Amino acid sequence: MAAPLVAMAAGEAPGLGLNQRARRRGLFFGAAVNDDTVTKDKPYLDKIDADCGIVVGEAQFKWADVHPEPDKFDFARAEALMTFAKARKLRVRGHTLAWHEGNPDWLEPALKPGTAEGILRTHIQTVTKHFAGRLAHWDVVNEVVQPDDKQVHDLRASLWLRALGPAYIDIAFQEAAACDPGALRVINEFGTDYPLAWQERKRVAFLGLLADLRARKVPVQAVGLQAHLDAAEPIDQKVLSRFVTDIASMGYRIIVTELDVRDQRLPGDIDSRDTAVAAHAKAWLDPVLACPAVLGVLTWGLSDRHSWLNEKFPRDDKLDHRALPLDAALDRKKLWYAIAAALDAAPMRS
Ligand code: G3I
Repeated sequence: MAAPLVAMAAGEAPGLGLNQRARRRGLFFGAAVNDDTVTKDKPYLDKIDADCGIVVGEAQFKWADVHPEPDKFDFARAEALMTFAKARKLRVRGHTLAWHEGNPDWLEPALKPGTAEGILRTHIQTVTKHFAGRLAHWDVVNEVVQPDDKQVHDLRASLWLRALGPAYIDIAFQEAAACDPGALRVINEFGTDYPLAWQERKRVAFLGLLADLRARKVPVQAVGLQAHLDAAEPIDQKVLSRFVTDIASMGYRIIVTELDVRDQRLPGDIDSRDTAVAAHAKAWLDPVLACPAVLGVLTWGLSDRHSWLNEKFPRDDKLDHRALPLDAALDRKKLWYAIAAALDAAPMRS
């Protein structure tokens, strides 16, 4: 796999960034940007500019950031990202309005039978109205399916399900649609990538939820597939093809929202890790990008300078993951070329 990727890289318009490659197929490419990057790392921002047409805040739009106290909203960090994006003419995704993580300490204890719905509605109204007309997408709800939690409709046993039951999903989408109708409304999910038994259960449950939301006309427009991949896990491209085709057949658009490739189960040698990571991403992207409903791809960070994986899945040898398109020196890795090749191979969007 490595040789063709590198050969393609050598032969193909080296000056184009990933978003420019994506645009040639009617797609977009982007990356998550964290707060430290926006305020402190100009060379990284220049690379974001070169490769991205869209960015998403890794933290800046989450409850803990924008709603730190019950009666206080704070948009300073999100606005710093908006200012950067505006200056570089990048679109921005909002992430996220209802999730079981990234919440301030006050939130869960405040969710009582008489208060929870009002708290959720007020938050979504305030945040979406604040950014109305300025965001391309909202991840309205995040990671709501988890069959192994054994809850109603295979939903995750989250603070929101406990407080409001499944209706919280409807409420979130209805408020987002009412307050910022121009932002594409996305239901974002992880753990649907491999032919593992727990992921098969999750795919089935997620498709069931998507069908139900469609049937009840809940205003969901697109599905976010996070794609936090694991280079050591076998991929079944037929399973992936069928999954994205099933989603598309219900009329949803699809966005790859958080692509990265962890490598803590691979030996430390950098060259072979880079080769495996690149081949893995291409094997995952090819069947997904073949689906015309897919609008674009974002990675969860652009450079190995910063990845959540080093904290969450530390390698035994303490080396950093090689999870993202650029290395820590901001140079293109094999993964960059694999993503470029996958974008180039995608069918043209009309
Ligand atoms: O806000 C505090 C800050 O005040 C403090 O100084 C600092 C000290 O470490 O911690 C800060 O909070 C951290 C926060 O990131 C910073 O933005 C949290 O401890 C840390 O848990 C949090 O992790 C983020 C996580 O979501 C939870 O919000 C990761 O950076 C971020 O990459 C991760 O992103 C998620 C997506 O939103 C959804 N999909 C999965 C993805 C990876 O988990």
